[in-house]
Amino acid sequence: QDELKRLVGQAAADYVNANVAEGAVIGVGTGSTANCFIDALAAQKHRYRGAVSSSVATTARLEQHGIKVFDLNEVESLPVYVDGADEIDPKGAMIKGGGGALTREKIVASVAEVFVCIADASKRVPVLGGFPLPVEVLPMARTAIGRRLTALGGVPVLRVNAQGAPYITDNGNEILDVKHLAIHDPCALEAQINAWPGVVTVGLFASRGADFCLLGSDEGVQTLDY
Ligand code: A5P
Repeated sequence: QDELKRLVGQAAADYVNANVAEGAVIGVGTGSTANCFIDALAAQKHRYRGAVSSSVATTARLEQHGIKVFDLNEVESLPVYVDGADEIDPKGAMIKGGGGALTREKIVASVAEVFVCIADASKRVPVLGGFPLPVEVLPMARTAIGRRLTALGGVPVLRVNAQGAPYITDNGNEILDVKHLAIHDPCALEAQINAWPGVVTVGLFASRGADFCLLGSDEGVQTLDY
């Protein structure tokens, strides 16, 4: 799978190099697959003004490569956003946030003209929900949101770190990972959960899903258009 991630990371960098004008700022996601994209993009970094990052971890990796990181407020447009996914359905809707960066990922993705999902074939599913759905919440709303998620038929579990303490996002919030949801209408569920007071972001990327996916399998990289 590491080799598949490397392949799709390189394919995404090739796409960006071929389709994005020189001097642009690139939106960059978070996770092990996005890291492969960063490493591949670094070879052509002189073509770009820099990047907008979706997490503290991605900022560190971009800067290690000498790629300038811009605050989103400094940038007028982003031609492309490249990121991984935890699951992707046949219409390009995704579950994201396994790495905890869902809020900044969703913000950067919302600004970008094109969202390129990069994933290995194991991430492709007929129905979202096998992967627990991450929901970032303000800590004071954790229990109230948990009750609502249980009423939907899910089993919310508070994410913890290696020490067993609540996992804290880059934004100072907590994450509920919701098991046992079969998500047949991702757009509707995204809107419903987003509307609850105390929810910062639900890790459903459906109203703004991927425009296309570069999917890595043993047969090579396949492009899936949505
Ligand atoms: C980060 O918060 C996530 O949304 C990642 O994009 C997602 O978890 C995919 O990560 P991997 O590429 O490491 O599987």
